[in-house]
Amino acid sequence: MAIYKRVADHGTNLSPLVSQVATAYFSDSLFIIKIFSFMSDSTIKPHKGKLLVLVPGMGAVATTFFAGVESARQGLTKPLGSLTQMQTIRLGARSENRNPLIKEFLDLAPLSDLSFAGWDVYKDNAYEAAKRCGVLTPQDLDPLADFMSGIEAMPAAFDPSYVKRLNGDNVKSYKDKKELTDAVREDIRGKMATSGAERAVMVWCGSTEIFQQPKACHQSPEAFEKGLKENDPAISPSQIYAYAAIMEGVPYANGAPNLTADIPALIELAEQKQVPICGKDFKTGQTLIKTILAPGFKTRMLGVKGWFSTNILGNRDGEVLDDPENFKTKEVSKAGVLDTILQPELYPDLYGDLYHKIRINYYPPRGDEKEGWDNIDIFGWMGYPMQIKVDFLCRDSILAAPIVLDLALFLDLAQRCGRYGVQEWLSFYFKSPQVDEGHIPEHDVFIQHFRLKNTLRVLGGEKPLTHLSEKLDFDE
Ligand SMILES: NC(=O)c1ccc[n+]([C@@H]2O[C@H](COP(=O)([O-])OP(=O)(O)OC[C@H]3O[C@@H](n4cnc5c(N)ncnc54)[C@H](O)[C@@H]3O)[C@@H](O)[C@H]2O)c1
Repeated sequence: MAIYKRVADHGTNLSPLVSQVATAYFSDSLFIIKIFSFMSDSTIKPHKGKLLVLVPGMGAVATTFFAGVESARQGLTKPLGSLTQMQTIRLGARSENRNPLIKEFLDLAPLSDLSFAGWDVYKDNAYEAAKRCGVLTPQDLDPLADFMSGIEAMPAAFDPSYVKRLNGDNVKSYKDKKELTDAVREDIRGKMATSGAERAVMVWCGSTEIFQQPKACHQSPEAFEKGLKENDPAISPSQIYAYAAIMEGVPYANGAPNLTADIPALIELAEQKQVPICGKDFKTGQTLIKTILAPGFKTRMLGVKGWFSTNILGNRDGEVLDDPENFKTKEVSKAGVLDTILQPELYPDLYGDLYHKIRINYYPPRGDEKEGWDNIDIFGWMGYPMQIKVDFLCRDSILAAPIVLDLALFLDLAQRCGRYGVQEWLSFYFKSPQVDEGHIPEHDVFIQHFRLKNTLRVLGGEKPLTHLSEKLDFDE
């Protein structure tokens, strides 16, 4: 206990000692060491001035996010689902009764400081786009009409070969991809100037692109820049935005399963430019439920023989995913979840024969009100089979919008703390968490949440929770 107090009090020159203690007491010791090393040489810069949230893709998720923030600012609705706005954080022992809201414990940008800008291949402003997407009722949307109409879609950096089912004409023309990144960088600077923002973050809310494997141009910043000049077809539109953001010192989060910044070139560039990045694919809907249920089965040593997930959705995202090449990107993102939670290599008797199948079906009548069915074949004592059926009538964008908000605020915090490169502690928000090379992504939502909050505790100068009893505490 004493060691943490000293770190919190002084925050300097304790790194080697703290690292030793952390190594002795934590299984996730590398992570703790990283945080303590970071604490030893940096403090949180206070938030000051406006924070501009930039979103490539002004569809269902982005417009629901804009509307929800403005609705909360006007006191019309609460920002439900957002950890940064609603969740408390326990500090110290339960008996100390210290449970501030996260936003009171850490210096997060307040909602009143946020301004917004975005790009889309369709020219609709955010109000028109939100009406078309049909997530929110006119009763909720109309009082926000003036605010939403003011967010106009800037012309997109777009290439139809990456998203075949879109045909909007609000698109930038360009000679080569270098010129295209320059244009996006110019947009970022322009929006910062007109909004008077001091800082910016970017959250990709654009469509899922076709499945991509890293190519030669993705291997280093130099190769990437050469690829931009040579118009390399392997550089996707989402990579144009991510590159532009990093070059402008703007943190970047990837809400889609696209490869985007999960390549050596952009990871290295983010390190060089000291910009935090994270991804991929907002964890909502069926995968959220999967990562809530699967850890429970494993905790009880219940076997899983099969997990069949199918859903119907009728929004534009569903239409894009109806194309097999775009669906492949989503399928890969969703499929990894069970293996890393259930660890069949450690538990072959329980999970060695697991059959996992995922289907997404475009069904226009349903709009954004998706329905996801899961059939789970589990087995227990003496091998007896049981079945669980889940029917989740969910609203994807309602689940995704608070994630956009939290990512924007946490990435801004990370940057003010001097953290950069891949932010693994934000894995909680993603279906396919981006991790540093050699690390294994964590999918268990409870472990992700534990890690997120411990990171916040340490960033705020408090000791991380271990849930060890006082009797086992470090002073002994
Ligand atoms: N809704 C969810 O819960 C959820 C969950 C996880 C991931 N996602 C991902 O988030 C993204 C957004 O989802 P959505 O439901 O808002 O989809 P959407 O189709 O309603 O919106 C995406 C928008 O991006 C635009 N777009 C496509 N390429 C672009 C480009 N290069 N530049 C600018 N705009 C571009 C499209 O025109 C469209 O308006 C999708 O990739 C989706 O797979 C959504």
